[in-house]
Amino acid sequence: MREIEINREGHLMFAGADTVRLAEEYGTPLYVVDEGYIEERCREIKKTFIEKYPNANAVYASKALQTLDVCRTVSREGLGLDTVSGGEIYAALKAGVDPGKIVFHGNNKTPEEIRFAIDSNVGRFVADNEYELHLIDKIAGEAGKKAAVQLRVTPGVDSHTHKFISTGNIDSKFGISLEKETRNRIIKFAMESENIDLRGFHFHVGSQLMENDSHLMALDIVLNLIKDVKSELGFEAGELNLGGGFGVRYVDGEETVKVMDFTDPMMEKISGFCSSEGLILPQVFIEPGRWIVGNAGITLYTVGSIKEIPGIKTYVAVDGGMPDNPRPILYQAEYEAVVADKAGSAAGKTVSVVGKCCESGDVLIEKIAVADDIAGGDVLCVFTTGAYNYSMASNYNRIPRPAVVMVKDGKARLSVKRETWEDLISREI
Ligand code: LLP
Repeated sequence: MREIEINREGHLMFAGADTVRLAEEYGTPLYVVDEGYIEERCREIKKTFIEKYPNANAVYASKALQTLDVCRTVSREGLGLDTVSGGEIYAALKAGVDPGKIVFHGNNKTPEEIRFAIDSNVGRFVADNEYELHLIDKIAGEAGKKAAVQLRVTPGVDSHTHKFISTGNIDSKFGISLEKETRNRIIKFAMESENIDLRGFHFHVGSQLMENDSHLMALDIVLNLIKDVKSELGFEAGELNLGGGFGVRYVDGEETVKVMDFTDPMMEKISGFCSSEGLILPQVFIEPGRWIVGNAGITLYTVGSIKEIPGIKTYVAVDGGMPDNPRPILYQAEYEAVVADKAGSAAGKTVSVVGKCCESGDVLIEKIAVADDIAGGDVLCVFTTGAYNYSMASNYNRIPRPAVVMVKDGKARLSVKRETWEDLISREI
């Protein structure tokens, strides 16, 4: 989470706006996104990576938070866009993102999605496996086009993160195995295909990483792959995609990391290896998602029932929960919160913050100290909900998804409308 700012009324401020007024004006639950913060994070990436190295490119992993507004903001700041489905590509194009700056990921792209991406001239495919590579070859051929492809490989590195968000390990569902015969067969196919322009390799080790060791280990493996493939097959990679995964601070006491804590040592390793092995310096891509938007977002809820079980615990129920933030139930993710209308009060009351779903596991925060006088009708702000909240929201229990409000320099605007009950049945026949 970020530093807290409180105004004279004792209300929590966010991005220059009074959060209690935002809750009054737009209703709750409400996702609030600080556009200025997204811009700052993009600019930091520009300054410390894109402009620092002649061969550096960054694409925003839009799965973290994809709205048309966020697509426009990151594009305006000069980043490309990582997408994982036809739907994400469709939305990106509707937002006006340059198709040439779109990278298309995913481990099971459908023929329909591949066709749409080819017809839309997306800049890169990251092919995840042999089956998909053959599909891309076939569909590009039918369209008379050549698809620019990076091959995703599985470096076989374990990362220190929740196993559901770790992706680079040997038994991962993602990427091509580095076993020699398999990888050479696949690379050779891509080299020889008339419809594929093989650019290089991609790896992604996992998400919410606070240390760079897994990235560096994976990089070693993939640099050696580049060297071996050059000597075995005569293919020299012109592109190397290092994925995303740079972590953010969710709770007090956690560290903050900078993208350059990862990219500086990786770029040093790449240039050192390439010059000592006589390889061309590849174009390097990174794909940060959470690092850009995680702390750009908060969620505002209205407190409802408070249940005190004497000597045991106090439950504070809010008007959202696992449908707008499934991360605690999925990954045991932890969050900080504050009573936004009593942000200046002493926080001495320990409670569990729970949602409104018919599910005992619908606990947003297991244990947190909140304002002693917390009561029904208060506004509760949960921090660091910018990444993988709106994008993973569901309608469980027929609960409409919240609205998204973008704030910049204290000015708020509605970015995504709140769903209605009517919306919930609008596709039913
Ligand atoms: N590139 C690739 C190939 C990825 O698979 C991902 C994330 C990213 C980039 C961006 O990772 P980031 O920089 O945001 O860590 N739903 C989970 C996170 C899943 C991440 C999936 N892939 C969560 O809520 O923690």
